[in-house]
Amino acid sequence: MSSPVPTATLAASMSAPEFYTRLARVYDTLARHGPGVGRLRRTLADALDPPSGATVVEFGCGTAANRPYLDAKVGPEGTYVGVDFAPGVLRVARERGRDRGDVPHLIRGDATRPPLKPEAVDACCGAFVAGMLADPAEAVRDWAGLVGPGGRIALLDLAQSTRPGWRRLNPAYRLFVRAGSPPGTARSLERSPAAVQDERVVAAHRALRAVCTDIEYETVLGGFGRVSAGTVE
Ligand SMILES: C[S@@+](CC[C@H](N)C(=O)[O-])C[C@H]1O[C@@H](n2cnc3c(N)ncnc32)[C@H](O)[C@@H]1O
Repeated sequence: MSSPVPTATLAASMSAPEFYTRLARVYDTLARHGPGVGRLRRTLADALDPPSGATVVEFGCGTAANRPYLDAKVGPEGTYVGVDFAPGVLRVARERGRDRGDVPHLIRGDATRPPLKPEAVDACCGAFVAGMLADPAEAVRDWAGLVGPGGRIALLDLAQSTRPGWRRLNPAYRLFVRAGSPPGTARSLERSPAAVQDERVVAAHRALRAVCTDIEYETVLGGFGRVSAGTVE
């Protein structure tokens, strides 16, 4: 989820890890209490549907707002592992874990170079991260390779709506994406951040369909939320 926070007081350009580190607490509030986010996160966890006891990796986990939904699926024998390259969001995720009385498995690393052993992962997912990756299709293929045949993979992303009636909200959505992008993003792209994000989201979900069977695809929140899931072939 892009985070619509005022950027006027931030530097003219900032890397994504710096941006998410600086705004980790604001992002965490939006990620947990923003309108409709609970429904989106439940839809992701239901679509991923990892078996009880599974080890689930979330790439670009942010402050681990998906963790309660995924923990509910894998149960006490299962394990949630979050990977993110921004130290600030991992700090907040760790604090949240301590509040719950446990130490979450969080790894600082690049989602496009998964720092994990393939045999250790049963399922993986990415929420609102595909739109930030330069080659999201390649990343999805790597994630599928990590879980291997029979493993589960799911994506949750936001994109402009194609639904009649809801499309009229796309201009507001484009502003939301621009406001929630690291400063300098719009200048560094040839098209609007929302257009680039849409293209990456489509590429990621298409890549998931190409490597999976049992594919589920659902749109929620007026077509702005897209969830894909499947079992890796
Ligand atoms: C919009 S936030 C989503 C966070 C979380 N998945 C959620 O549902 O709230 C995107 C997150 O992806 C992380 N991210 C983006 N590109 C990444 C990469 N290549 N490797 C690791 N983390 C990345 C950012 O640091 C940020 O925390």
